[in-house]
Amino acid sequence: MQLTKEQLAEFDELGYIFLPECFPADQVEALRAAASDVFTQQRPEVWREKDGTPRMAFACQEYNDACKILSTDERLVNPVEQLFAERCYLHQFKINYKAAFTGDVWQWHQDFPTWHKDDGMPEPRAMNIAIFLDDVMPINGPLMVVPRSHKSGALESSHDVKTTSYPLWTLDNETVSELVEKNGIATPTGKKGGVLMFHANIVHGSSGNITPYSRRIVYLTLSAVSNALVKPTRPEFVAHRDFTPVATTPASAFEQFVEKAVTA
Ligand code: SIN
Ligand code: MN
Repeated sequence: MQLTKEQLAEFDELGYIFLPECFPADQVEALRAAASDVFTQQRPEVWREKDGTPRMAFACQEYNDACKILSTDERLVNPVEQLFAERCYLHQFKINYKAAFTGDVWQWHQDFPTWHKDDGMPEPRAMNIAIFLDDVMPINGPLMVVPRSHKSGALESSHDVKTTSYPLWTLDNETVSELVEKNGIATPTGKKGGVLMFHANIVHGSSGNITPYSRRIVYLTLSAVSNALVKPTRPEFVAHRDFTPVATTPASAFEQFVEKAVTA
């Protein structure tokens, strides 16, 4: 999958782009089953909210076959390599499970400051590409982004470990208010199987989910190979140490995986 000239221009201007219907229904079902499998596991890579609700699972490509094949899927890797005009390595793979009724907030933040300060990533030549495993609606804790905020570069942030169980370098209310006053807030929503790409410096967050609808999203963080970590401090399952380019697999590899699983 390659982005069109118009899509590249939209990404450049807004800092994000949503691509509907990238993964067909049977592949989305296989990924939903993978998420269910991953979140029943008790292991250090699977993190939970204070009340035990699953929050996120890191490095699932290491212990789930569907995630493994997804982690090299060209539909995700190609557009990012196209944007950076360079091959990419996989910095992080995770599933965020914003659970029905109890899913907790993600404070306002940019991704790059965390990658830079905690992982020693030199430049914002990395980004998240997300696959929706549930319909993401305005009501079930969608990602909220401040369009054009990536143009502000990396903003001052502080290390927040109080608001949720997940520590992040977060932005203060004044900074967020100023940016939102100028650019508003967008919620890129869409059906399961859609893909969202967003810039490493776009300001984003999400609120809690008190609806009966869970909101599971897989995130691949891909970084240009010229942008290898120099001083990682987080565990290897959060910030990978293999900086070799992803050996991409075609969409047909995932298709065959799903077919095999059905006939097994
Ligand atoms: C993130 O910003 O890394 C995750 C936010 C979310 O899944 O809502
Ligand atoms: Mn983020």
